[in-house]
Amino acid sequence: MKNLRLQLRFLVPLVAILAASAYLALPLLDNLTLRWFARDLDTRGALVANALSESVAEALNDARGRKLQALFDRTLQDERLVAIGWCSPTGEMMRRTQHFPKDLTCAQAAAIAQTRESNLGIEGGAVHVSVHPMTAESGPVGQLVLMHDLSFIERRSQDTRQYLIIFIIALGASIALVTIIVAQLSWRGWVSGARALLRGEGLLRPMEAASPEFAPLVADLRERLRELEDEYRRMQASDIMWTAQRLQSLLRTQLRGDQVIVVSNREPYIHEQRNGRIEVRRPASGLVTAVEPVMRACSGTWVAHGSGSADRAVVDRNDRVALPPGEDEYLLRRLWLTTEQEQGYYYGFANEGLWPLCHVAHVRPVFREKDWEHYQHVNRMFADAVVAEARSEDPVVLVQDYHFALLPALIRARLPRATILTFWHIPWPNPESFGICPWRSEILEGMLGSTILGFHTDFHCKNFMETVDRYLEARIEHEHSTISFGGEQTFVESYPISIEWPSPEEARNWPTPGQCREEVFGRLGIPAHHRVAVGVDRFDYTKGILERLHAVERMLEKHPKWQSRFTFIQVAAPSRGALEEYRLFQERIHALVERINARFGRPEAPVIRLLAQHHAHDEVNRLYRAADVCVVTSLHDGMNLVCKEFVAARDDEHGVLILSRFAGAARELPEALIVNPYHVEETADALLQALVMPPAEQRERMASLRSTVREFNVYRWAGRMLSDAARLRLRQRVSDRVQRHSGSSPVVVPLRGNGRSERGRS
Ligand code: F6P
Repeated sequence: MKNLRLQLRFLVPLVAILAASAYLALPLLDNLTLRWFARDLDTRGALVANALSESVAEALNDARGRKLQALFDRTLQDERLVAIGWCSPTGEMMRRTQHFPKDLTCAQAAAIAQTRESNLGIEGGAVHVSVHPMTAESGPVGQLVLMHDLSFIERRSQDTRQYLIIFIIALGASIALVTIIVAQLSWRGWVSGARALLRGEGLLRPMEAASPEFAPLVADLRERLRELEDEYRRMQASDIMWTAQRLQSLLRTQLRGDQVIVVSNREPYIHEQRNGRIEVRRPASGLVTAVEPVMRACSGTWVAHGSGSADRAVVDRNDRVALPPGEDEYLLRRLWLTTEQEQGYYYGFANEGLWPLCHVAHVRPVFREKDWEHYQHVNRMFADAVVAEARSEDPVVLVQDYHFALLPALIRARLPRATILTFWHIPWPNPESFGICPWRSEILEGMLGSTILGFHTDFHCKNFMETVDRYLEARIEHEHSTISFGGEQTFVESYPISIEWPSPEEARNWPTPGQCREEVFGRLGIPAHHRVAVGVDRFDYTKGILERLHAVERMLEKHPKWQSRFTFIQVAAPSRGALEEYRLFQERIHALVERINARFGRPEAPVIRLLAQHHAHDEVNRLYRAADVCVVTSLHDGMNLVCKEFVAARDDEHGVLILSRFAGAARELPEALIVNPYHVEETADALLQALVMPPAEQRERMASLRSTVREFNVYRWAGRMLSDAARLRLRQRVSDRVQRHSGSSPVVVPLRGNGRSERGRS
């Protein structure tokens, strides 16, 4: 259809030009034909006069003039001759035939014959007047005035005009036909070439050959794609370090400085009112740990729930505040929720419903209708905020986590050209487990509003695709890792999240491990000869804190000599305490700690130190550096960043990591001691193995872990997602252009399948 319109754009001017030419050419042609015929008639008249000269001279001898009359009548038998007049050598009209105008004198006839067209209107139509001198042997015999009928000229002229019009129409039709055929052929070549290009097959040669006029555009496109591919490959190359600068350059070059909007429930900084002062605190959140450095690198806008008691006091009238405090690198747009909304959306649907549903940690998910209503409403509020913050029709929106399963489709409906990257920070269960959610279809449909949907591991991607397959009518292409639903396509990929690798300057300012040990031991009253293991978590039942404590107990049981040489420090950042499940769990842990301490510890040196309060990043870092062992025993975890933070903190290459096989990180960090946290015996043995591990083995394992985490840092996580987004945006733009001009259906552009996409290392 569009192709036809394009051709019409050419054909209409063509018809107009041809019509204008005909309009201008016809009078010109008339004029020309008339003059040709006039000249013809003059020549003809001269011949007639010549032929008649002698006869006229003879006829003059007939005094009654009958001979002359008979001569003229005979001559008039020529159908084109209308009238004849004879002027004497002295210029008097001596004889005229019947139709010769009575009052026309010889002088007047001569004057008319002198004019350009020599035409005269007489009764019965227009005539051509010509005057010819006649000379006989006897001398001049006067002048012959001939009047030729012009109507035959008009008839001929009309015929010529018709032929001309037919010729112009035929010419126009031939030009149009040839043009359409050429255009169709060229267009097909161009469209298939562009498609080949979009598919990354590099099949541009046929397109260039078929349509050389597109050669510059093709060259341009090819060049741009090549640059992107190169850049992408360079960025993926494992020997190249991802840094904030590299991410910034990706944003500048591949995303052309497009606006980046992050949406998460948890805000990166919380302003609290304490003792009459406003204090800023960083929440204990893996999401914030990962996304904040990315946000600093892209100077975008972060939309989040303002949950701090002093949050309203520091925002401007648009509810925005520049962050980090004093550095102002990006904007946080805070959204306010009522207590009921927070209760229903955050505590209820997200944390009593989706959280246990996705973690499968043997806590029953609870789904309440009211919570679902709040969840939907709050998702709509965040969609409004994203639309309000968008400065263009196609921002890059990074939607974070299970609080916003409906948000991608809501944004897609309002900003159809936005690139929506949704990252699901928690595991995705198998279809059977997910199927118990009463609103499973709505959740899946909401998520499929995303352009790219990211999980930590391939396993979670696979679970998600199987879930969609089970509950929605969608087309799944496993080869390309895409799901087509409702006319939209979502690319599902694993992007293992990570941390910001500390810069050398930052690490230089850290106290040495010895100093950290001294400080921590002194503060907590741990005897100097003790070996220390740490656990750092949110106080959450998925983290396997209970199982870990049982493992500590079991190890001490099995190896009593460690009862007087070992301390386990558990940092448990308060989390979701308003929920009964969490409260009960926390109480249970407190009770267990008490029991174990009563069993093994001395009151002045308890075996387990439970620090159930918020710790700043520096404090946690000192703990990591002071410890001999770090224990991560999540029962199920999307990734878990504590293990990566521990590895990053150990620039002395000492310390042992014990890691749950059910944390996404286990797939990236095989040099850790990998355990099944449900198997208390195994974890207890791993604890002992860690305590006795020779320094050389510690160094070997730690060096390898460090090189992995340094390389697969958070900039790589964001960089891979944003490069994929940039490639999709570019291809979408080219596809739109092709579609606009060809009217054909949109080009399906898989990111994977051409061997270029990199699966996560998970
Ligand atoms: O693990 C999921 C997650 O959203 C993390 O990204 C984050 O560390 C944690 O939960 C934060 O929980 P909350 O915001 O409920 O305190």
